[in-house]
Amino acid sequence: MTETVILPDSGAVAAAAAERWARLAAESIEARGRFMVALSGGATPRPLYRLLASEPYRSSLPWSRTGIFFTDERRVPQDHPDSNYRMVRETLLADVPVAPSQVFPLKGEGLISDVQKSGRNMLEEVFRLQRKEWPRFDLVLLGLGEDGHFASIFPGTRALTDNSMPVMVIEVPSIKAERVTLTLPVINNARHLMFLVTGEKKAEAVEAALQGPNRISAIPTKALKPVDGDIVWLIDEAAASRLK
Ligand code: 6PG
Repeated sequence: MTETVILPDSGAVAAAAAERWARLAAESIEARGRFMVALSGGATPRPLYRLLASEPYRSSLPWSRTGIFFTDERRVPQDHPDSNYRMVRETLLADVPVAPSQVFPLKGEGLISDVQKSGRNMLEEVFRLQRKEWPRFDLVLLGLGEDGHFASIFPGTRALTDNSMPVMVIEVPSIKAERVTLTLPVINNARHLMFLVTGEKKAEAVEAALQGPNRISAIPTKALKPVDGDIVWLIDEAAASRLK
């Protein structure tokens, strides 16, 4: 099921996302004893992370049973200004009672094979996966790039066609860089996907994602087909301005 919610502005998007986070955390813990969430980088989710790190959420959310993962990462060390881990640490983790043992960064630096292997090993261990089983996150937070990418699944890249591993390093010619990303089979296996998209610059990408042709190579979000989960798009009016 895909739900689209249009909200007045980025503050309202963050508020709606925090409410949903709280509900999903409670449901997940009730059902399975833990809440496993993968966080996106970029600028859009920062207001949400700040909100979660302030009252009432800081004191009321079940942080001790929450596992924090990352949708994608830059090829940089953890303390680099471009690191998603660093951004999440500074905006959220520094102010909430989440122990380091509950945080599972993606390795950014190193040989491609090492990064992919360490991502796979980490997921297999934490989720206690059997062979050929994909991890099942309770919530994956996603943003949308102006070019239509989410996590680090960019148009025209191998991330759209290679389903052989859970964490992949991909070459992204359009940004002349490599990225580390959770892959489509993992994202499609999540219970809940939540997109946060704000600002007029995203209007075209939102239109393509929600109302564009089914061309996966050009519009990566067309590859999102949750196995047994749902997608909610929380969009502000500016980003939704081209929707019919
Ligand atoms: C990242 C992401 C990426 C992001 C989009 C949107 O690490 O950059 O996870 O997919 O969500 O690029 O980024 P903004 O929110 O900065 O527009």
